[in-house]
Amino acid sequence: MEHIQKKAAEIASFFLNSLSRFDKVYIVSHKDTDGITACALLYLTLTRFKKVETKIIPQIYLKTLDELKKEIGDNLVVFSDLGSSFCREISEKFRYYIILDHHPVKNCKENVLNPHLFGYNGAYDLSGAGAAYFFCKNLYPGIKKYSYLAIVGAIGDKQNDPFQNLNLEIIKEGKGIFERYGKNIFIENVEDDLRDGEYFSSLVNACGTLNKADLGLQVCIQNKEAIKEAKKIFEQYDEELNTALKHFLGNKDKIIEENKERSVYFIVSDMKRSLTGPLSTLLIKVFNDKPVIVISKRNNLKISARGTKKLVSQGLHLGEALKTAVSRKGEGGGHDIASGAVYNGKIEEFMEKVDFEIKKQFKKRFLIEGEIIINYEDEETAASTAEAVNVDNEKTLKATLIESYNNKNEFITLIKSENIGTFKNVIDDMLVCIKSSEIMKE
Ligand code: C5P
Ligand code: C5P
Ligand code: ZN
Repeated sequence: MEHIQKKAAEIASFFLNSLSRFDKVYIVSHKDTDGITACALLYLTLTRFKKVETKIIPQIYLKTLDELKKEIGDNLVVFSDLGSSFCREISEKFRYYIILDHHPVKNCKENVLNPHLFGYNGAYDLSGAGAAYFFCKNLYPGIKKYSYLAIVGAIGDKQNDPFQNLNLEIIKEGKGIFERYGKNIFIENVEDDLRDGEYFSSLVNACGTLNKADLGLQVCIQNKEAIKEAKKIFEQYDEELNTALKHFLGNKDKIIEENKERSVYFIVSDMKRSLTGPLSTLLIKVFNDKPVIVISKRNNLKISARGTKKLVSQGLHLGEALKTAVSRKGEGGGHDIASGAVYNGKIEEFMEKVDFEIKKQFKKRFLIEGEIIINYEDEETAASTAEAVNVDNEKTLKATLIESYNNKNEFITLIKSENIGTFKNVIDDMLVCIKSSEIMKE
């Protein structure tokens, strides 16, 4: 805890110390709820020092940085809710920059505030808005009454199941601002319609998705007219999303059948590109035994991938999988549990590559594999031994996969383990089990 807050203070000092060297501050932020709330926090804070310009974008691509550089020149640029996968490029291109983010980090050195650098996981422990909030607190104490924006950002990124670590710290600090009812949170010091944190987050998200990020920013700062308009937009968006959702739920059996050999549910259509993210978030709740990857094939492929905590604990990292799978034919990345990409190639080729990467991830957990094979005189004994030793999933050690079955008169146990110690113990246990099952049979 202490460490990331200290870093936030250091970056705030950098900001104050370099203030005289530029005329303007540019905020470049992500277009979803988290990015827009982060941007609002920064806007409220930084306008107290300098002229501020905001840019809400769907994603950073290499060419985005060149375009930004042309406009920003030697002014300060603050990236929020994005930037971490381009640390090196950003540090090479921009004279003055700050990155406040929670996506996995690569080659990051100075002026980067990111929970991954302090032993936290940015997919669950802190949002981009949370990182922005930690920074802003050092420059403008009054921002504390807007701490709800950090939490609405976290809700937008699905970090409320449950709130934990740094997010929880923000909630605890905000005495009198938050009231909790289970997963959701109610906010005390906002317009009535926005008190429900989930609804607040959905309104802002709809603005971002429908390219009305400025409206979303106004909603964040409680502009009544903006809230009214955002509600209309939200209704329209919600209807569109529900129609698409119903379509895929109606095809559930077909989707399951089509993907039965794969490590992933691929759900493909020529839907609007902006719908892949929200749809994948909804569909993973239904198709939750494998990751879900929603693909829009309008123009090139636009891809959104979602997993579950359970799948992540089994080795899944969707950000890595998509990054590797698209390699030179696109750009992709993101969290372990949620990631995205664009791809300029054939859809079959993409699906095959992702399937391979994800199969590898699930397998990589198990470094040691072994089989115990016993030939009995008859099939019945082989079958009854398999039944007797079949360790159910609950009893299975987290680090070990055990499968016992029989093939005619052959009894087979497959054991996969992460380390030699558990592997040895499991084999010992299995042999004892087999022996006692044989004695029982006699
Ligand atoms: O790029 P970004 O961090 O904004 O991606 C957020 C997306 O990832 C959200 O749409 C959310 O659905 C998903 N997510 C998730 N579970 C998490 C974190 C993010 O489903 N723990
Ligand atoms: O677009 P979507 O909501 O599916 O994105 C999910 C996650 O994947 C976000 O964290 C986003 O920043 C990340 N992403 C990425 N590179 C891309 C597309 C998405 O890192 N090209
Ligand atoms: Zn985010």
